[in-house]
Amino acid sequence: MRNYLSIQDIDNLPDWVKEARELKKNPRQFNALGKNKTIGLLFFNNSLRTRLSTQKAAMNLGFEVIVMNFGSEGWALEYADGTIMNEGTSEHIKEAAQVVSQYCDIVAIRAFAKLQDKEKDEAEEVLNGFKKYASIPVVNMESSVGHPLQALADAITIDEVNTKPRPKVVLSWAPHPKALPHAVANSFVEMMQLQNADFVITHPEGYELSKAITKDVTIEHDQNKALENADFVYVKNWSSYSDYGKVANQDSKWMMTKEKLGSAKFMHCLPVRRNVVVADAVLDSDQSLVIEQANNRTYAAQVVLKKIVSSL
Ligand code: CP
Repeated sequence: MRNYLSIQDIDNLPDWVKEARELKKNPRQFNALGKNKTIGLLFFNNSLRTRLSTQKAAMNLGFEVIVMNFGSEGWALEYADGTIMNEGTSEHIKEAAQVVSQYCDIVAIRAFAKLQDKEKDEAEEVLNGFKKYASIPVVNMESSVGHPLQALADAITIDEVNTKPRPKVVLSWAPHPKALPHAVANSFVEMMQLQNADFVITHPEGYELSKAITKDVTIEHDQNKALENADFVYVKNWSSYSDYGKVANQDSKWMMTKEKLGSAKFMHCLPVRRNVVVADAVLDSDQSLVIEQANNRTYAAQVVLKKIVSSL
């Protein structure tokens, strides 16, 4: 495998999950694979889990790791061809991506949606710019449209806990005071389309995700009805997609509570706003899988990096 940019790069999900669970038992067993190799982790946005888990995954495989907060420390990048660069941007992605390729064997990028311009966000200029101009493999650590490392960790977590041949999994929108991107929800939806699950999305009207992502997944606007008999409930806020990037609803009735969760397991990618997105009683209960999801980020990243480095 050359790049890990989206869920579409997963050729066989059950095999990947199995491999990740094997790596989890003995994380350092392939620590010679990354010897004398360097991975660059470039962050255009903040992170806790992605930064530490991807670094740890790389270290488990024996890589040297360079981390750069590109958003605050790098030159402002230009992405358009033929631009007269006499305004705010100082360096073109053409040079930047090639320069990073001189120092690293793999580059991983975090660059969120700006939520101002749907077309521009969906063009994924940072991730695709690196894919186009870097001469090394590129890994998506959350882009405008997707967060495939998170979704892989989520699939590993469900596999570890699930006891049913076809569990019911619900993705439930939650309120949030700020406009958040669609990336986590998008990749979770795409991941669930690869799973044998009874999958339902619930959100207020006006919060439909891109139809190109949801395709024929069941959407139920009545949250209580959607949650009936759920085995796993994944809670996440996203801003409006149709009224792009706007916060149209902050109805606290959509917050996840113990009563609504029933006997299901609770999932969230973190960070999460307590008592806005989800009640303390849920997060602090043994039904919450959020810490194991965060733990599994390491093994999701490790299986991805192992596959890439094995093909170099
Ligand atoms: N879930 C996740 O990606 O967390 P961070 O934003 O802290 O990396």
